[in-house]
Amino acid sequence: MGWNSWNHFQCDINEAVVRSTADALVAIGLAKAGYTYVNLDDCWADSERTKEGYMVANPKTFPSGIKALADYVHSKGLKLGIYSSAGTRTCSNRMPGSLGYEERDAKMFASWGVDYLKYDNCYRDGTPETVRFGRMSRALVNSGRPIFYSLCEWGFMEVPKWGGMYGNSWRTTGDINDTWSGMLDNIDLNDAYARYAKPGGWNDPDMLEVGNGGMAYNEYVVHFSLWAIAKAPLVIGCDVTRVSNETLGILSNAEVIAISQDRLGVQGQKVSKYGNDLEVWAGQLSGHRKAVLLLNRGATRSASITAAWPDVGIRRGVAVEARDVWKHETLPGWFTGSLTAVVGPHSCKLFVLTPVPS
Ligand code: GLA
Repeated sequence: MGWNSWNHFQCDINEAVVRSTADALVAIGLAKAGYTYVNLDDCWADSERTKEGYMVANPKTFPSGIKALADYVHSKGLKLGIYSSAGTRTCSNRMPGSLGYEERDAKMFASWGVDYLKYDNCYRDGTPETVRFGRMSRALVNSGRPIFYSLCEWGFMEVPKWGGMYGNSWRTTGDINDTWSGMLDNIDLNDAYARYAKPGGWNDPDMLEVGNGGMAYNEYVVHFSLWAIAKAPLVIGCDVTRVSNETLGILSNAEVIAISQDRLGVQGQKVSKYGNDLEVWAGQLSGHRKAVLLLNRGATRSASITAAWPDVGIRRGVAVEARDVWKHETLPGWFTGSLTAVVGPHSCKLFVLTPVPS
C-alpha cells in the first residue's frame, strides 16, 4: 500500500510535491490506514548520466537530491520508492534507464535509502524480460538494503509464471486508464493469473485511479473493491493534498483494506457470471471467512445478484453472517445456501461472510 506520482502528476513532479504528499498521507490518516510507500515514478532524474556514468536527480526539480528526500519521507514514518527501466531510457524518454547499469544503480538507490523500485520496460534491447528483470533482481539482492521490487513489464512473457522468482509484484496488464471500461479490462486480465499470487509475490493490475475524476463515486467504489478482493497492490494515484471526503472515504475504508491485507494473501477471483453484466467474485480470508463481491457491470438497471455457496466455496449447510463492508452493517439473520442482494448499475456490494458456529 502506498502512493505513486504517475497517474495524477505524470512528469510534472518535484521534491515539494513528494514532501507535501508525505505530509498529507500522515495528516489525513492514510499513513495510519496502511499506505506506507511514497513512490516516485518517471521523470525524477536528470536527462543523462554523469560523465562517470551515474544517474542523478534532476537538479531543477529535485535540487536537494534523493537521499534528502528519503530522509524526509523516513522521518514521517514512511518509505520512499523510485523508478527506472530495464532499457536504455525510461518510457518518457526524459531520463536514462538502468540496462547495463543494474548493479551500480541498485547500490546507489540503496545508499540513498530507497525502499522500493518500480522497474519499467521501455527502450529495451532484444534480451528477454526474464533476463533483464532478473539482472535487476540480483542487483537489488546484492545492494545491501531490502528493496521491494515491482516489475512493470506489462504482462510480457506470461510474467505471473516467473515474476515471483525475481520480484514482489508484477504488472499483468498495460497501463490503466481512468475509465470504467479501462479499469474493468485490467482487473479481468489480472484475474486469469489468480493462482500465481501469494504473500511476497503479487499480481499487479496497475495503480489506483480513485480520486482522479474520470469515474463516478460508485465506479470508484467498484474499482477499490475489486483491487482489494484481488489482493492487488493498493497504490494511490491521485493528489492526496487535495483529496475530497468521498475519495478519502473510499481509500481509507478499514474493512475493505482488511480484505486486501488479509494474512492468507489468497487472490479472490470471478466465480460466476449471469449474462454479460452480473458477476460474483469471491476469495478465501483467514478465520474460515470469505470475501464476496456482487458486481453489476451494466449501465442502466439495478439487478438482483446471487452468490451461491458452491460458487463461493462454502460447504452446503453452512450458515454465515454477512457483513456489508461499505455500509459497515451486519445484515440481520443468517444465510444458508446463498446470499442475494440488489446491486445498482455500475455498482457493487462487498461482503465478508463469517460461518456461524453450528
Ligand atoms: C509506463 C508504465 C507506467 C508509467 C509510465 C511512465 O507506461 O507502465 O505505469 O510508469 O511508463 O512513463
